[in-house]
Amino acid sequence: MTGSSTVHVSLQVNGVRHERDVDPRLTLVDLLRDGLGLNGTHIGCEQGVCGACTVLVDSTSVLSCLMLAVQADGCEVSTVEGLADGPDLHPLQEAFWEKQGLQCGFCTPGMLIRAKEILANDPNPTPASVREQISGNLCRCTGYQFIVESILDAADRMSGDAEPAGEPAHQSSGQAAEERDR
Ligand code: FES
Ligand code: FES
Repeated sequence: MTGSSTVHVSLQVNGVRHERDVDPRLTLVDLLRDGLGLNGTHIGCEQGVCGACTVLVDSTSVLSCLMLAVQADGCEVSTVEGLADGPDLHPLQEAFWEKQGLQCGFCTPGMLIRAKEILANDPNPTPASVREQISGNLCRCTGYQFIVESILDAADRMSGDAEPAGEPAHQSSGQAAEERDR
């Protein structure tokens, strides 16, 4: 404790160490957004329902609106800002871009982070598995189909099986999804 009202926390976010004295009631998402200026992680419901605030803490996805900043003390946190490698987008970002896995984009940071965890645990998931695993991340725009296709496409990219550039966007991955569903 650094006083009666704050707690010292030290955490690594996207590879960068941060030290802050925080209110014990501060949520992790508020620390990320307001304390560290990482506004990529969105706040939707603040009740653990929508998944917009999903980040990785020590490689496991958490709802950062339900986690206190002090609980992340000593942890490694990964947010959407850490996905790209400089100017090079992460394969998930490329896939969401090319397969139109987003519309308004509000759910996208949480969806990308959740997808990163899914592919880390299973590099070749089935469409049904992807659908089940993103069920905690709500999207009001896309109907989910293109999100599922984007995640499957990213899996292909990460395993080196990406389709050649120029192939029609939704047709090919949709067909692939159907095949995997059989
Ligand atoms: Fe955290 Fe909705 S803002 S689950
Ligand atoms: Fe709008 Fe998902 S793209 S909420």
